[in-house]
Order: sequence, then C-alpha cells, then structure tokens
Amino acid sequence: MNRPANGSFPPAYRAVITGYGSFVPAKTLTNDELAKMVDTSDKWITTRTGIKVRHITTDQESTALLATRAAENALDEAKMKAEDIELIIVATITPEMVFPSTASFVQRSLGASKAWVFDLAAACSGFVYGLSIVQQFIESGRLNNAIVIGAETLTKITDWTDRTSCILFGDGAGAVVLERSKDGRKGILYSTMHSDGDRWEALNCQAYGSRYPSSKKLDDPNKIYMQIKGREVYQQAIRRIVETVTESLDHCGLTMDDVKMFISHQMNARIIESAAKRLNLPDEKVFINIGEYGNTSAASVPIAFDDCARKGKIERGDIVILVAFGAGLTWGANVIEF
Ligand SMILES: CC(C)(COP(=O)(O)OP(=O)(O)OC[C@H]1O[C@@H](n2cnc3c(N)ncnc32)[C@H](O)[C@@H]1OP(=O)(O)O)[C@@H](O)C(=O)NCCC(=O)NCCS
Repeated sequence: MNRPANGSFPPAYRAVITGYGSFVPAKTLTNDELAKMVDTSDKWITTRTGIKVRHITTDQESTALLATRAAENALDEAKMKAEDIELIIVATITPEMVFPSTASFVQRSLGASKAWVFDLAAACSGFVYGLSIVQQFIESGRLNNAIVIGAETLTKITDWTDRTSCILFGDGAGAVVLERSKDGRKGILYSTMHSDGDRWEALNCQAYGSRYPSSKKLDDPNKIYMQIKGREVYQQAIRRIVETVTESLDHCGLTMDDVKMFISHQMNARIIESAAKRLNLPDEKVFINIGEYGNTSAASVPIAFDDCARKGKIERGDIVILVAFGAGLTWGANVIEF
C-alpha cells in the first residue's frame, strides 16, 4: 500500500464510520408472486438481474419510518445518543412529502434536537454523495459527527403493470454514523462525485414537481411512475462504475490488491459482475446482496455495507470501496479504510 498519492497530505481529521445499520419492511414479494401480476418468470428475473425477492412497505409504512429504524440501529452500533448528532442527511428520491424534508421527520422521531438536517436527491448515488459531504465537514473541523441515511419506498412509485421496471425495485433503509477521528489514517480516504444532466431522461419520475404539478391534469398518467431506459442505464452504469473506481484508487495510490471489498449500488447483479470483471476484481471481493432486496436506490449501498459488515466480510482496517450510479445521471465512489 502506498498512500497518500498525488502529493496530497492527509487531513488532520478523518470521518470514520463508527456505526452502521439497516431496516427493511417485513412484507416481501417474490419473483413467483410477481409472475402472477405481470408476464414474467422467476427464471427471467433471476438470470437477467439476480433478484429473487424484494421488501415492500405497507400503506402505513413511510420513508421516514424506515430511515428512523435504520438510524436507530446505526446509533446503537456506534453507542451514540441521538441528542449528540450534529447533522442528519437523508438521501432519498421517495421523500415523506414534498416538504418539509424527510430528515425533519427523522430528527423528530430520533429526538436529535441538536442536529441540522436536510434531504439529498441524487437518486441511487445519494448515500455516496452524502458521505462525501460529511467527509468535507469533518475534515475541515466544522463537525464532530453526522449520520447519513439512504431510505426509499420505491414500490410506491412503481408501475406494477410494467414488467420491464416493476421487477427491479424494493423498499428499505440503511444508515451510518460518522465521527471525527484524529488518527489521520482511518476513515473516508477519498470521495469523487460526478453527474450528467444531459441524460436525465434515462431514469425519471416526472410527477408531481413544478413541471407537472398535482394541480394540473397529467398529459400522460404514467408520469406518476418511474420510467427507465434499461439498456442505456445498463451500459452507462458499467462504464461509469469502472471509470470512477479506477480514478479513486489511482488518487489514493491503491491497487485492487489493497481492496478487501467492492460494495456497489445493487442495481443488477449482471452490471456489478461486468464492472468487477473489467476492474479485475475476483468474486470474493465483490459484495452482492440484490437477490434479497432488489434495487433500493439510495438505500442500497448502506444496506449492502451493513449486511457485508454483519456477515464479517469486512473488518476494521480493511479498504472498502463504495460506488453508486443512478438517475441524473449521477455517480460517485468513496474509498474507506474501515
Ligand atoms: C431492465 C433490465 C433488467 C432488462 O434486461 P435486458 O437484458 O437489458 O433485457 P431487454 O430490455 O433487452 O429485454 C429483453 C427481452 O426481455 C423482455 N422482457 C423485459 N422485461 C421482462 C420481464 N420482466 N420478464 C420477461 N421478459 C421481459 C423484453 O420485452 C425483451 O423481449 P424481446 O427480445 O422480445 O423484445 C436491464 O436492462 C437493467 O437492469 N437495466 C438497468 C436497470 C435500471 O435502470 N435500474 C435503475 C437504475 S440504477
């Protein structure tokens, strides 16, 4: 291992993950159950995506509820009291309501009275973007700690008659607590974020914002649902994941040999496997849990991180790469010494 690269000096402080947690609704929907709703099959979904089952919220369960449960689990792990949290970021594209932010509801239910809070809308990259923001605040000495949550109820904006999209998504939340460490080694070593607004049409849900407000009749009733251009997303995702991981490792002066685990946004097992192959990553360094959750957008990376850590696949001191890609288009990565 040969760090730091590019002539940069390590910061005085680093943002260390001291707690992690996740929460998914109890109700599930299997591929066989989906095959009774649309013209598809367990075989097609498994082969093309790796998904076997996804978790689905009931009418009573909302994004803030999932986010709060995941945050509570992460705070328990960090042994931190909610009243000590200084910042709460909720990454989501399925917020509790138009306003106030989902993070406001989470603050209230946690009793995190000292925190300032906001939502971050970068779709599937939201959690990775959130870590990057917290990294800056902690490294500059402005914050002692923060909690970043990815939480989604995508099944509430899913068109259950569209077999090309409804097979993909699930609900859930994941969270991490980050704290300032004076050990200049451990923590988030590097973050890189990108976006390409020219490709917004590849993935979107157009109602109900200012362009298509709820006060006006929609020209196309399907605008209330997620629309995806699957092939375009597929190709862009592989390309951007490979680029951003390569860039991140180069910046840190690390190679794939130094990396213990590659934790990607879980959008399609085939996309993750193709990207990993191009990065020359062996199977044992690639964490995939999409089979049990589907694509949970901003929640997917923290759910995978929590799952990976609890399964003992990463240990303190390991180098872990988090990478995400999603609507916007947006993409980014964090290199972490766990
Ligand atoms: C959606 C996705 C799984 C489709 O897989 P694919 O291998 O690209 O499949 P295609 O879209 O080329 O469709 C192949 C065929 O399967 C059919 N098909 C599509 N969905 C199907 C389903 N659920 N069950 C059975 N057949 C299906 C298509 O109609 C097509 O049939 P045709 O060849 O007769 O025209 C894949 O493109 C993907 O994962 N894309 C990214 C998804 C995404 O946007 N995620 C969110 C952002 S991160």
